[in-house]
Amino acid sequence: MEITKICCIGAGYVGGPTMAVIAQKCPHIKVTVVDLNEQRIKDWNDPNTDNIPIYEPGLSEIVAEARGRNLFFSTEVDKAIDEAQVIFISVNTPTKTYGKGKGMAADLKYIELCARQIAKVAKQNKIVVEKSTLPVRTAEAIKSILDNTGNGVQFQILSNPEFLAEGTAVKDLLNPDRILIGGDTTSEGETAINALVDVYANWVDKDKILTTNVWSSELSKLTANAFLAQRISSINAMSELCEKTGADVNEVAKAIGMDSRIGPKFLKASVGFGGSCFQKDILNLVYIAKSYGLNEVADYWEQVIIMNDHQKRRFSNKIVQTLYNTVAGKKIAFLGWAFKKDTNDTRESAAIYVADDLINEQAQISVYDPKVSRAKMLSDLDYLETRTSGENNSSLATFDSAYDACKGAHAIAILTEWDEFTTYDWQKIYDSMHKPAFLFDGRNILDAKELESIGFIYKGIGS
Ligand code: UDX
Ligand code: ADP
Repeated sequence: MEITKICCIGAGYVGGPTMAVIAQKCPHIKVTVVDLNEQRIKDWNDPNTDNIPIYEPGLSEIVAEARGRNLFFSTEVDKAIDEAQVIFISVNTPTKTYGKGKGMAADLKYIELCARQIAKVAKQNKIVVEKSTLPVRTAEAIKSILDNTGNGVQFQILSNPEFLAEGTAVKDLLNPDRILIGGDTTSEGETAINALVDVYANWVDKDKILTTNVWSSELSKLTANAFLAQRISSINAMSELCEKTGADVNEVAKAIGMDSRIGPKFLKASVGFGGSCFQKDILNLVYIAKSYGLNEVADYWEQVIIMNDHQKRRFSNKIVQTLYNTVAGKKIAFLGWAFKKDTNDTRESAAIYVADDLINEQAQISVYDPKVSRAKMLSDLDYLETRTSGENNSSLATFDSAYDACKGAHAIAILTEWDEFTTYDWQKIYDSMHKPAFLFDGRNILDAKELESIGFIYKGIGS
């Protein structure tokens, strides 16, 4: 079975870049990305591809090449479903904010809506691919909806988890460590798996394409994210011990990373991990383990989140303590608001929680981030429901330049590791600040000695 028409439901951080790369690498396949959000689709269709709604290095060029040729963005969901042989579901699966599993389980309402819509529209057999991060056994639920509400057509459900990291999405998609495809072990299942393997084989080596049963594939995604997040919480736990003992966490990370069994990646101590996946996926894992009565397994993984929350809170506490136990009325400049560099995504960013704590202490926050808008920052704070929008609005100032944001500040906090922060004229920034001038490097990206020689009181993570 040769695939020539793909539809993707959800034009977000996963669906957008993934489909752009499939379209670029497979010019013979028509790829249509649909979304209910009209503004989002309008932005994807902006004649100037620098204005597409998701910032990822290299993405705008790919969209410029493929859009209008075999890549289309549309709000006509039914039409795209009807036309396609393969339908990717890339809608959001946030943590539930209500009812059973509140704060832990994934909210599958968007997935269910998609499944129902596919069931309603499809007139021919389809392959449905779960691309969103989903709890184990979601494929089964999708299958049950499709089989029981559909028009008698056959559906094959595949799990094809996304491993791209934001900020490096294009690179990760073009050159993945592996592609994972899970499907039924029946002959129809195998045909569907092979059809999707052939799509990826247009640019990925076949030995990097793994095929498994559906549940292994779903669980592998949660496991991968849990392991990655666990490394960060492990090194962050050590960072607190380093601060007490006089060890330097950067030196410890380097020393352990050279052990080939441990390896050097994901050992960077920080103000805490953010992003849409780690916390959500681990909470999901914890929920699943609990639902099977596996309390020790659940507690083990939950500790990764507890440590991460502690690390964020510890950072804001440290700012308050160092500034003589009060930040009331003081100006704290934030450099960075995104959850990591090279993205405009702010979901679960540590900056939000640190700002929230400091505003509770009546600090004035002034922020510069190269890619995040003021409106986004304010909506992130409003979402916490700690105070009114009006109060958030008056506690947060935003600037188009770091130099302006830092002028007259009592302290600077680095929340995102944007490369440009390492190229600044720090003497000039120091001269424009209140004295003593404090710098809290939540990402350990700056040179402590150099800043101290200028006059800054420098505090990194774990040293
Ligand atoms: C993650 C996974 O890496 C990816 O495979 C999966 O598909 C989605 O979730 P993402 O959340 O986009 O990707 O970014 P990632 O690079 O993993 O960073 C997550 C968070 O951890 C960021 O806040 C980052 O700053 C932080 N981090 C990462 C650290 O604090 N230290 C590190 O050593 C690495
Ligand atoms: P992710 O990081 O998982 O890609 P995003 O929130 O960036 O998450 O993107 C998910 C997209 O899915 C959003 O643009 C949202 O509007 C879209 N979406 C959610 N439900 C549906 C649906 N039933 N039909 C079409 N689009 C949907």
